[in-house]
Amino acid sequence: MMVSHAPNGTSATTLPAVKNLFDLDGQVALVTGAAQGLGLAIAQAFAAHGASVVLADINAEGAECEASRLREAGVEAISARCDVAHSAPIAQLIAGAVGWHGRIDTLVWQCGRGRSDRPARGGH
Ligand SMILES: NC(=O)c1ccc[n+]([C@@H]2O[C@H](COP(=O)([O-])OP(=O)(O)OC[C@H]3O[C@@H](n4cnc5c(N)ncnc54)[C@H](O)[C@@H]3O)[C@@H](O)[C@H]2O)c1
Repeated sequence: MMVSHAPNGTSATTLPAVKNLFDLDGQVALVTGAAQGLGLAIAQAFAAHGASVVLADINAEGAECEASRLREAGVEAISARCDVAHSAPIAQLIAGAVGWHGRIDTLVWQCGRGRSDRPARGGH
């Protein structure tokens, strides 16, 4: 594709394309490890770009707390408890997420023990 660059280095033709790249309206993102840390930041970023998000975590209270915050901000968000160390809850998680809007467009498997040994966030 030919791209003409404006004097300041930006391009009138690439900017709309980049905007579309981050337009996630109508899409569903499922993020594990979403009660805190990177997983939460990723879920919030998807939500900020228009996606409906499923926040899954072994910490059900923390995931629901963050999903509730997103809903208060006008985002379609649900939470689900899931221990990804076991296959049965994973199957249940996927089925539940697909049942929500009939699709999963993006799956982010972010859980694990991260740099935060901070206590899990809960409550509201
Ligand atoms: N934070 C970073 O800068 C960084 C950089 C590179 C890689 N990572 C990796 O990313 C992952 C997450 O890091 P973080 O800093 O966000 O961690 P974090 O400890 O802040 O959050 C991890 C989340 O995963 C959840 N979780 C843990 N075990 C789970 C399980 N079995 N099932 C479902 N949920 C579970 C926790 O409850 C928590 O909410 C880790 O594997 C970490 O090694 C982190």
